[in-house]
Amino acid sequence: MKMPTKVNVLLIGGGAREHALAVGISRSNHLGKLFATDMGNPGIAEIADPIDVPVLGKELYRLVQFCDRESIDLIVIGPEDPLADGWADTLSKRADGSPRLVFGPGAKGAQLEADKGYAKQMMKAASIPTAEGRVFSHYEHAEEYLKTRDEIFVIKATGLAKGKGVIVPKTNEDGIKAVHEMIEKRAFGDAGKQVLLEEKLNGTEVSVLALLDGHNILVLPPCQDHKRLSDGDAGPNTGGMGAFCPAETIDDRTMQQIESEVLVPIADVLRRDEIDFKGVLYAGIMLTPAGPKVLEFNVRFGDPECQPLITRLESDLIELLWATASGNLDNVDVKFSTKYSVCLVLASKGYPESPETGFDITGIEDAQEMDDVEVFHAGTKSINGNFVTAGGRVLSVCGLGDTMELARERAYEAASKIHFEGMQLRSDIALNAPVHS
Ligand code: AMP
Ligand code: GLY
Repeated sequence: MKMPTKVNVLLIGGGAREHALAVGISRSNHLGKLFATDMGNPGIAEIADPIDVPVLGKELYRLVQFCDRESIDLIVIGPEDPLADGWADTLSKRADGSPRLVFGPGAKGAQLEADKGYAKQMMKAASIPTAEGRVFSHYEHAEEYLKTRDEIFVIKATGLAKGKGVIVPKTNEDGIKAVHEMIEKRAFGDAGKQVLLEEKLNGTEVSVLALLDGHNILVLPPCQDHKRLSDGDAGPNTGGMGAFCPAETIDDRTMQQIESEVLVPIADVLRRDEIDFKGVLYAGIMLTPAGPKVLEFNVRFGDPECQPLITRLESDLIELLWATASGNLDNVDVKFSTKYSVCLVLASKGYPESPETGFDITGIEDAQEMDDVEVFHAGTKSINGNFVTAGGRVLSVCGLGDTMELARERAYEAASKIHFEGMQLRSDIALNAPVHS
């Protein structure tokens, strides 16, 4: 499909990742109109137009009609839930059945993230290096298995659990309790009705994201995410408390290894299974002494990884999204700034378990005015022109710099201007990040 001179875009999703995508899209020379489903995000609301139909899985035909009426050329789906629910399948057809481009895989492709058991099977089928794992549906069977093992197992809800369904226990007794919570008590709802017990791996974690267009793979610069809540990687797992890019923890040889041992084989099995995956595939990788191994696949941009990626992107984002959705990545040459980007997540008190919201936020404009700083909204809302907290992860603050250290200083200086009651911010994001000499 040929790209029109002006592209009308619909963006689905309302977090800091989607705000960053909206900013990237709005900077494109090709943008016609940008519509967004989540105008409650004040950052998105500032640059996008609202839509006038309800956005509900059960009534997606109304969104299809809206897209027809407003001549939407490209739909970009940010979060995992609508992808897992097959929105891309429905939205990729106009009411008359003719095709429309969607960035994001259909339900079958999204299974790679939405069902960790399926992802494991796919990895086995493709001989992709990953932790050994077994899926259990009955608590007693999992308990029996764990009782007979000396080594520690990681416990994973197989379904979507907002980044919280993974427990790395200190003992298998704690692991058994976690399985009980998941299968018997449904701590994560149906997402935990099956659990994956996985060999525990050790090493540094990196996020390798690649665009897939059904034929080609375009690997993006690697990022590193800080998943634990507190400094020194203490506390519970979160959606991510900060990220940096590029992650020079990975050398070029290892990146090539990840491409040839992980990305190419997974793209091949997707094709073999006739799954037309057009979007971004995110491989969560542990760099173990035995080489890189996959911890998880996601079928969307990481949040916060997307934010430092977008702040470094020099190419036109609509061109890139269009090329991915239309199967033309082989004609694209993507350019990123040579600068480093560090992204800090400012979170509410009580995040991730039970965030407290409704507090005034000050200083966002002061931070935004700084050079080489971008602030992206997530859990905020605007009341009479004032920002208040409205979610767990409130803002993403990105700083750019010629070195990682400068990017880090810039981000922390910007974050120091922002205040709200109970704000949680790690102080060690990108600290000691390895850099190539
Ligand atoms: P996941 O959502 O599967 O990436 O898991 C969330 C986090 O749990 C990862 O980022 C790791 O920090 C940790 N984790 C997941 N799987 C393993 C594993 N097999 N061994 C050690 N840590 C793990
Ligand atoms: N930052 C981790 C994720 O997006 O899943």
